[in-house]
Amino acid sequence: MKTLTSETLRSLYLEFFRSKGHAVIPSASLIPENDPTVLFTTAGMHPLVPYLLGEKHPEGTRLTDVQKCVRTGDIDDVGDEAHCTFFEMLGNWSLGDYFKKEMIPWSFEFLTSEKYLGIPVDEIAITCFAGDEDCPKDEESAEIWLQCGILPQNIFYLPKSGNWWGPAGTTGPCGPDTEMHIIRNKAEAAKLGPYDFEKAPSGTFTEIWNDVFMQYNKNEEGRYEPLKQRNVDTGMGLERTLCILLDKPSVYETDIFEDAIAEIESLTCRKYTEGGETTKAFRVVLDHVRTATFMIGDPKGISPSNVGQGYILRRIIRRAVRYGRNIGLPIGELSKIASTFISKYKDVYPELVKNEARIHEELETEEAKFSKTLQQGLKEFEKVADAVPAGGTIDGVTAFHLYDTYGFPVEITDEMAKERGISVDMPGYDAAVHEHQEKSRTASAGQFACGLADHKEETTYLHTATHLLHAALRKAISPDIEQKGSNITDERLRFDFNFSRKLTPAEVAEVERLVNEQIALDVPVVMEEMPLTEAKERGFTGLFESKYGERVKTYTIGDFSKEICGGPHAPSTGVLGTFKIVKQENVSAGVKRIKATLTRTE
Ligand code: ALA
Repeated sequence: MKTLTSETLRSLYLEFFRSKGHAVIPSASLIPENDPTVLFTTAGMHPLVPYLLGEKHPEGTRLTDVQKCVRTGDIDDVGDEAHCTFFEMLGNWSLGDYFKKEMIPWSFEFLTSEKYLGIPVDEIAITCFAGDEDCPKDEESAEIWLQCGILPQNIFYLPKSGNWWGPAGTTGPCGPDTEMHIIRNKAEAAKLGPYDFEKAPSGTFTEIWNDVFMQYNKNEEGRYEPLKQRNVDTGMGLERTLCILLDKPSVYETDIFEDAIAEIESLTCRKYTEGGETTKAFRVVLDHVRTATFMIGDPKGISPSNVGQGYILRRIIRRAVRYGRNIGLPIGELSKIASTFISKYKDVYPELVKNEARIHEELETEEAKFSKTLQQGLKEFEKVADAVPAGGTIDGVTAFHLYDTYGFPVEITDEMAKERGISVDMPGYDAAVHEHQEKSRTASAGQFACGLADHKEETTYLHTATHLLHAALRKAISPDIEQKGSNITDERLRFDFNFSRKLTPAEVAEVERLVNEQIALDVPVVMEEMPLTEAKERGFTGLFESKYGERVKTYTIGDFSKEICGGPHAPSTGVLGTFKIVKQENVSAGVKRIKATLTRTE
């Protein structure tokens, strides 16, 4: 193996798969194409979904790439060793071409060959699908791994929760996967039986690669039927793999961040290696500036705003500014750190060079906007927080004031509060925002104009409105209300639910008001995938018929609505327009029907 750097790992991977007949395709945008269900591209397979479903790809049936990805679900964990909001995923795909017999030996070769990663065979553990009523145990994969030379004691089996990937929605292609892990503690690994993988203490294994064998289609009834086109979808996280292979304590100690660390050190006269809160602050700044650079520098570049992707970008930049302050990073210097990333990635992502001026401009503008009031805001926060006893809460109106006057996203206020062992009254904050929006409603009637939506967009928006309606009925009418049916056309939504009588005019008005409030608040609609059991624990509503251990997609709209659902949805509620209930019908004694519309002003 050559000296490993991010550049060599990328090119080794792509070259390896090129030598196996794959076309190297460019990374797609960070903003998903025609997919309002998620704000950002979260996996290499994401831009390829149409081709995995059978559409012809112009480059053929064997593809490989390195895909830019953003996952912001765990933003609060940034600063530890493993979490990044931006990462690159190396991947390769068979679109109805090769399958297990080819893929597993290739994975083995890439991992173990001296020409590539050169990992000793006895340091590799494999997990395969354990089998259930939907799909048999994946003995075939295990057998191929054994033939390759993986030690029998290092092959483990996991149920759907561990070794199954997809579908991306509630229906679609999916299948068992086999994951490759580096054994980091041989003594602990040796104690485990073939079904004990999850019993290992944390730190025993680290996953580096996932081969998904998409051989099923999950249909509307939740059954798994064999797919006509059997695909392979694989994913290897670049940063994490580098970190493990170089035996570094964190991804931030790899070459990717070297120049940026040097830049921050020279700007702050502090050392990354100081440890504790200093190292954490360095890491947050490093991660967030890199993510912001890629978001702004994307071909579909975004700007900081209060909506959807722009809001995430704003939060990220502001969080970087705040952590930068903790290590004495002068205001206005994020742009210099961004420059180190632009030059580091210039050959892989030329869009960063092309959009360099834009990256600097957006960072500088947003930093200036935030820092103007930051000092005052921090003082104000200190004053507020000092008055709150340990374990107490900052009330919603005050948190809103910090946002409205000082530009502190409530998440930042909440985070700073947590650092002091207090919290923010989030429902109170929402109420304060509602009240403010109500007051400025007339003045901002045009704010939500988004032009004429096309049919697909229209139904997507109505779908999001359906979630809001469902939640509003449960809040305003009865917590026992459940969805009994839903149908959406271009013009209207139709929603059936269990209730004994028609709603009174006052009840209709209240439900409409609640929904329109959420629209006025422009709340991001956030998709997260998780095991069904976790979704239940976290209080998501939805159909629970599905099998134990399965992963599901969930949609959260602020703290107003939490549903298990396949999507698609609007990126945030602000685009929906005005919600109106136009009709009530009686379906049966216990089931009532509502028809509702959305209208928008140009
Ligand atoms: N799509 C698979 C993953 O993200 C490869 O793990």
